[in-house]
Amino acid sequence: MSILIKNIKELIQVRETNVLKVSGADMKELPTIKNAYLLIEHDTIVEYGKMEDCEDIQADKTIDATGKVVLPTWCDSHTHIVYAGNREQEFVDRINGLSYEDIANRGGGILNSAEKLQNTSEEELYNQSVKRLKEVIKLGTGAIEIKSGYGLTVDAELKMLRVIKRLKKEFPVKVKATLLGAHAIPKAYKDNQKAYVDLVVNSMIPKVAEEELAHYIDVFCEKGYFTLEDTERILKAGLAHGLTPKIHVNQFNAFGGVALGVKYNALSVDHLEELSDDDVKALKGSNTMPVALPSCSYFLSIPYSPVRKLMKAGLPVALATDYNPGSTPSGNMNFVVSTACIKMKMTPEEAINAATINGAYAMGISNMYGSICRGKKANIIITKEIPSYHFLPYAFGNNHIETVIINGVEMS
Ligand code: NIG
Ligand code: FE
Repeated sequence: MSILIKNIKELIQVRETNVLKVSGADMKELPTIKNAYLLIEHDTIVEYGKMEDCEDIQADKTIDATGKVVLPTWCDSHTHIVYAGNREQEFVDRINGLSYEDIANRGGGILNSAEKLQNTSEEELYNQSVKRLKEVIKLGTGAIEIKSGYGLTVDAELKMLRVIKRLKKEFPVKVKATLLGAHAIPKAYKDNQKAYVDLVVNSMIPKVAEEELAHYIDVFCEKGYFTLEDTERILKAGLAHGLTPKIHVNQFNAFGGVALGVKYNALSVDHLEELSDDDVKALKGSNTMPVALPSCSYFLSIPYSPVRKLMKAGLPVALATDYNPGSTPSGNMNFVVSTACIKMKMTPEEAINAATINGAYAMGISNMYGSICRGKKANIIITKEIPSYHFLPYAFGNNHIETVIINGVEMS
């Protein structure tokens, strides 16, 4: 099956194969072709160029994209979409004055979700998660990382990861799985945190590696959650079992988690609402992608990551949703891109780079996803008729997407 998309008003994010991420001032550049065509064969982008060079090209199907913009699908490198139930009561409690921390301290938060998940069957968990995955595909997400972390027992973490594996099998989107056994200290270990870290290191990680259920190892390195020492033990154990670090750091406090991530060659360090000069220094010259999660800042009313500081230091930035029941009940990358522009002062070019090629890098897949490139997977968004790509973040909260193509197939 081949698809020819022609008369494209502007084809966005056209890159050479060797561009795996963009950093610093280069993030301001978003290469495009005006009045373009794009040819897909099976699941692959095979050709693109200016309309005047498209004359002889034939395809099984032709899509006329007059007035429309075409771009790669969003690459959402940080989500927790496998969870049971929701936490809308905590949302109301926060409106009435409690903080996210207050709620966690009284046994709510992640522990609330863990209890729900432990009491939910694998089949039911799958069914709830499918709905979220279908929803984000419609919103233009073509590659997604999904974390465990609402199980907090060996069995329940394995249950989550098996659900992720099944999503990966059943859906055409690219899925990467992360073990986040160290997401919170379970009630039973309240007075013996070390014993829980022992469980993660000695039991969870080896079992997950043996069943090949995850690519990445994550830790919520934060006051009240896991210390630097805990994090280091878990990252070392993960690495020994072939799991690459990709960690939650600096959501509420900056105390060295970023440098620790860099020390263990983390693929990404995520959140960074708090960011010290030392954190920026640690990231310089590393292979680690800083990932900002603006929907989380929006929902919790916490600071936005100072991404301009990172870009000014020559560093790359990726954007992701953090879709989860507690801090970000939304998987809308369009909203993330808008919010990054509106609240974090990213230009549309920077935000689109951060949500495509750099997001793909933060999942280790930017050789095949995240840009318009011959030989890459045909994961494409066709917008409705819009005046320019700036309109995407500008007209926030509206749906500008008309068609999503994943692996060369139009999604309905
Ligand atoms: O990335 N910060 C840690 N984990 C999630 C939130 C978890 C929750 O509240 O359920 C996050 O924001
Ligand atoms: Fe998260």
